[in-house]
Amino acid sequence: MEPWPAGPPMEPGSSCPAAAPVERQFRILVGVTGSVAALKLPLLVSKLLDIPGLLSRDDTRLWAVLGQRVEVAVVSTERAKHFYSSQDIPVTLYSDADEWEMWKRRSDPVLHIELRRWADLMLVAPLDANTLGKVASGICDNLLTCVLRAWDRSKPLLFCLAMNTAMWEHPLTAQQRDQLRVFGYTEIPCVAKTLVCGDQGMGAMAEVDTIVDRVREVMSQHRGCPKS
Ligand SMILES: Cc1cc2nc3c(=O)[nH]c(=O)nc-3n(C[C@H](O)[C@H](O)[C@H](O)COP(=O)(O)O)c2cc1C
Repeated sequence: MEPWPAGPPMEPGSSCPAAAPVERQFRILVGVTGSVAALKLPLLVSKLLDIPGLLSRDDTRLWAVLGQRVEVAVVSTERAKHFYSSQDIPVTLYSDADEWEMWKRRSDPVLHIELRRWADLMLVAPLDANTLGKVASGICDNLLTCVLRAWDRSKPLLFCLAMNTAMWEHPLTAQQRDQLRVFGYTEIPCVAKTLVCGDQGMGAMAEVDTIVDRVREVMSQHRGCPKS
């Protein structure tokens, strides 16, 4: 993996780096878990890549839409890999092996920490029942859940649940969704339809266009100081 670009120095007493105008693309980290809705990952990534998003520190709005596209990377669970082909994902894709292959000695980067630093926004789509339970209770036993456990909660995190209706209706789901909202994360609600398993009811992941529109909305509210 290429080293992450270093940020400009901070001026004493300021919360945002001053200095020469600095521009870089807004960075979206997509987490994907082992729901059948992960079939939509290629479409989701391609639509996210169409979002304009150049960050400009010289602008009072802090980031401005100047025609350049956002930057996207994906963190996948092992189960999620079953539902898409890496050849269909035109961005860097990380999974558990990368975390452990990257770290050999003290000076090496710890991938889950580098990724949480790198991202301006995280989108977990789909978020399955298993990883929902892990995130709600603090379990971090793979790359994705480590990024989520280490997440900088001053940055937006959006999640899109996707599960069978029976799982959705289990009382644990409501408890765990509430817990994620308490953490300050934004839910993009799932929808009712005939699921891939044939059941009809709540639990299907929101439509890709709905997800991308919500990401745009959250980006447009973003006034934070982008970290390099
Ligand atoms: C074909 C198939 C489809 C699945 N779809 C879902 C789903 O939509 N939602 C869900 O919560 N679990 C679903 N599962 C179960 C998860 O894959 C399983 O809980 C897995 O352990 C999740 O691992 P992960 O959270 O590490 O990705 C599905 C399993 C299979 C075999």
